[in-house]
Amino acid sequence: MENKRPVWTSKYAFIITAIGSAVGLGNIWRFPYIMGQNGGAIFLAVYLLLILTICFIPLINELYIGKLTKKECVGAYESINPKLKYIGMLNPITGILISAFYFIVGGWIIYYICQSLIHSQIKDYGEYFSALIQNPVYPSLLTLLFVFICVFFAARGVKKGIEAANKIFMPLFAVILIFLVIISLNLPNANLGLEYMFKPDFSKLNSHMVLAALGQAFFTLSIGMGALLTYGSYISEDKSLVKSVYTIILSDTTFALLAGIMIFPAVFSFNMQPNSGAGLVFVTLPKIFSQIPYGNYISLAFFVLLFCAAVTSGISIVEGPCASLTERFKISRIKACTILFLIISALAIPATLSFGILSSIKIFDKSIFDFLDYLTSNLMLPLNTLFLCLISGWYLKIKGQNFIKNKFLSFFFNIGLKYIVPAALISLIIVGLN
Ligand code: TRP
Repeated sequence: MENKRPVWTSKYAFIITAIGSAVGLGNIWRFPYIMGQNGGAIFLAVYLLLILTICFIPLINELYIGKLTKKECVGAYESINPKLKYIGMLNPITGILISAFYFIVGGWIIYYICQSLIHSQIKDYGEYFSALIQNPVYPSLLTLLFVFICVFFAARGVKKGIEAANKIFMPLFAVILIFLVIISLNLPNANLGLEYMFKPDFSKLNSHMVLAALGQAFFTLSIGMGALLTYGSYISEDKSLVKSVYTIILSDTTFALLAGIMIFPAVFSFNMQPNSGAGLVFVTLPKIFSQIPYGNYISLAFFVLLFCAAVTSGISIVEGPCASLTERFKISRIKACTILFLIISALAIPATLSFGILSSIKIFDKSIFDFLDYLTSNLMLPLNTLFLCLISGWYLKIKGQNFIKNKFLSFFFNIGLKYIVPAALISLIIVGLN
């Protein structure tokens, strides 16, 4: 079995795919609105501090366990200790649950791409968006389409599917992003948006925001559901992890910052509010596009950008469970992906309908969509990462010296893995439970 496992064709292929996984809706959709709700620049400062210091620890750890065991998630945990198999299973389950809400947003993006192509006149963007998400038909069909696209690339395999998709979508993403940043910076009063992003107001600093920043950092780096563990298992022996990890973190952070620089100057230039939450990208921005010359084309470019980001992350979300199914049940990727398509669709459709006809169904007072988001982002992702850090730090006694040359960094890795990151994760989980 081992020698049949795929490996990345090159270091570039691995890094661009890991960046593709990291850079997603978390950067373009979630990051700006969470920053908007948490006071702007001060949130950014805390976020940067966390992502550049402690986040490299769980990121290296997850990739390293994959590289070490050369197995999909469940097998990786099992090879450490057979009893850990059940904890390992939480990873693909988390992946499937995440995909059920993540891919719905993918469906909305496809709808907005079509809308930008049709050039339809819209009076009230808020109403337009609520009408879309409450509609029982279109979002469901488009979600299925989005699931199909991600599953399709995963089914084609690591080289022809996953690498190929990332090699197309990521460069396209970067080019469109830079183009949109230039347009946004040339809008009148763009500097107000930059001030909002880069001039911190320390009075807004609080513990809730620090944890929001930490949660966002883990989510955006794709830590906590075995996607990276699986990607790590395709790394061939000699590749150094530390450099790759910093390249991934720096690229992800740069893309999140560029997304902010694209969005906030436009928001301030048109006197809109930066704290409108999830609607920032689907309501506020389309309203702005409608007031800019060639707005339809800009809107098209923006939603294609969002699509590229979402697909490459979506593929990574599917790949964890896909690898687990193929390797454990010895079935083909096509079979595994068909099964995944059916399971994800069966969860995603009720979640889509929870904005409309199923809105009366509540789980712990939340709609199905909100519950899936809450359960995975606030509880399951941090829990999976916590388990993996404890297993590596305390059970396997992994030492940074084995793969980090810099003495200070490897010392910091050791205490981070055993104490700092678990403590941070436990705080996240406790706050998540409240
Ligand atoms: N990181 C992606 C984003 O920012 C989302 C994502 C992809 C993810 N794979 C993941 C999140 C695995 C957690 C775990 O949008």
